[in-house]
Amino acid sequence: MPRQPLPLVTVATSRGDRDAIVTHELTRSFGDRQALAGIDLRAPAGSVLALLGPNGAGKTTTVRILSTLLRPDGGRATVAGHDVRTAPHAVRERIGLSGQYAAVDERLTARENLYLVARLHGMSRRTARDRVVDLLDRFTLTEAADRPSGGFSGGMRRRLDLAGALTTRPAVVFLDEPTTGLDPRGRADTWQAVQDLVADGTTVLLTTQYLEEADQLADSIAVIDHGRVIARGTASELKAAVGGERISLRAAAPGTVGAVAGVLAGVGPHRPEIDRRAGRVSVATDNGSTDLQHVLAALETAGLAVADVSLAPPTLDDAFLSLTGKPRRVPDSADPATPARPRRGRRGKGTHAWRR
Ligand SMILES: Nc1ncnc2c1ncn2[C@@H]1O[C@H](COP(=O)(O)OP(=O)(O)O)[C@@H](O)[C@H]1O
Ligand SMILES: [Mg+2]
Repeated sequence: MPRQPLPLVTVATSRGDRDAIVTHELTRSFGDRQALAGIDLRAPAGSVLALLGPNGAGKTTTVRILSTLLRPDGGRATVAGHDVRTAPHAVRERIGLSGQYAAVDERLTARENLYLVARLHGMSRRTARDRVVDLLDRFTLTEAADRPSGGFSGGMRRRLDLAGALTTRPAVVFLDEPTTGLDPRGRADTWQAVQDLVADGTTVLLTTQYLEEADQLADSIAVIDHGRVIARGTASELKAAVGGERISLRAAAPGTVGAVAGVLAGVGPHRPEIDRRAGRVSVATDNGSTDLQHVLAALETAGLAVADVSLAPPTLDDAFLSLTGKPRRVPDSADPATPARPRRGRRGKGTHAWRR
């Protein structure tokens, strides 16, 4: 790509002006490992974009490039109208970042941590003090404000880190796995904080390994794996494709997986997915427990024995199976031993409207 400097000021009439984040064929390698193999993203101003993907997919690398901590090898990215390569300072002035691991100074209290950030950003003492009071209140840290943050729970630490990222009222906020490692309470609090942000008109890009989280928070989702976007759409499109709850079961005799899938296919409108390696069959269901009873009855009639029956919300693995027609490959394991196979499995489901 020719290195053409882009104008620092966006033209108000351009359509792209409404997009807070745009990337085009973003690539980045570390040595001979390609972390990003051409990522295209778009987040309209005021929206929440979720990058959903397993460990090693390239989420943090994308966030680091968009927050100007890392230069891309190729492609283009603009944040709040400014190119991350040619105008990193302009980008930095407009963003907040909460990294994958909460960055708080444990020796300082919550109030001191936030005050430090505010002062580092050039706020006057008085403005900084007021802003900190606001933030402490907003993230329910007022009570704990004057205790050293070293004693905080994971959820409190995460909220403090998030508050720090918002000190300057940035237009765009990056949250890298904001709830990984949190207990349900911490997760719920963080979700609430993200929803408050959005209500304020902030654009949020968050990364997550949880389908449910992306579903709760995001206006649009990009599913990434091995440095590529493998699917994208709104939360409801993704849900429709993956299904609500899923019935999952394992055939008691490995040779009967196909027959079990055949029975599942007869029960609802959704097509069962087969993971032959694990001997599992799963299917989306619109009315969980009723369908489950029908499935079990039909299997009994057919004389097919099953083990490990479950009814649960779809996992990231289910999503991968639905979206790609094959199980997700485990990163860094036995890849060379995997025989070459066609890019799309025989059971490829055809094209979802929102699939690339
Ligand atoms: N600084 C680095 N040096 C070498 N390899 C890296 C570095 N950062 C990331 N990678 C590799 O790039 C890939 C993507 O990593 P990352 O973006 O951290 O994924 P995610 O955040 O989705 O877990 C992984 O294979 C990871 O090992
Ligand atoms: Mg990461």
